Amino acid sequence: MSTASAKDATPEAVAGNPAIPDYLVDTYTWAYVRPQNIRFLDRGIVVESILWGNGRYLMDWAFCEFAPGQDIMQPASVYGPFSRRLANVVGPEGSLEVRDIQPVQVEHTRVKVADCKHVTLKVADASQPVGREFDGICCFFLLHEVPDDWKTRIINALLAGVRPGGKVVFVDYHRPATLHPLRPIMMAVNRFLEPYADALWKRDIRSFATRDEGFTWTKETCFGGLYQKVVAVRAE
Ligand SMILES: C[S@@+](CC[C@H](N)C(=O)[O-])C[C@H]1O[C@@H](n2cnc3c(N)ncnc32)[C@H](O)[C@@H]1O
Repeated sequence: MSTASAKDATPEAVAGNPAIPDYLVDTYTWAYVRPQNIRFLDRGIVVESILWGNGRYLMDWAFCEFAPGQDIMQPASVYGPFSRRLANVVGPEGSLEVRDIQPVQVEHTRVKVADCKHVTLKVADASQPVGREFDGICCFFLLHEVPDDWKTRIINALLAGVRPGGKVVFVDYHRPATLHPLRPIMMAVNRFLEPYADALWKRDIRSFATRDEGFTWTKETCFGGLYQKVVAVRAE
């Protein structure tokens, strides 16, 4: 990390938490680091706008893969009501662990789930070993924000973090149909704001995994192909 990056990073990064990666500092400081921007962006209406009114649908699309009583991990925080709603899906007889590489995001999520006793929070880098096996992992719009070598490390780590029979669910961007009316806009977004998203237009999420065997993979798309859900279920 450059000196400028270290200066922008949260103090906790210096105190032993994971270092804030350059891609986050260089590309996403405006979105995930500055507290005033976090407060502005972390609203349901903003999330819905960014996702063209599909936010709730996409969350439900991910959530329907999980069930009450399960032990689920969310590897990166998500703006809006995502974690709270996922906590409701697993219910108090289950558990949800929400992680993020940035302490500021973890603390922000903590406030949103303060009354959910079955939710724990942790500062952690999703590209590092998960540390134990969960029933499921829900990776929502993280991959398009990381460089390709990070995509591989994150996917590998998450696949290794589910028990036999467990699943990893990825919901993220995908290449829209050729005549999709939003295609030119999303191309501009990728070019100027989301430089690592383009790879998800060109390659299957599965292809980033170093070893994809031992899992059953399914892929669906929605909204004219703009979004995808990829589910990897580990063999029993
Ligand atoms: C899940 S992604 C984007 C989600 C979506 N755009 C939203 O918030 O509505 C955003 C989060 O990923 C986190 N993040 C980025 N790289 C990470 C990594 N390697 N490990 C864990 N969290 C990471 C960022 O700190 C940020 O809080």
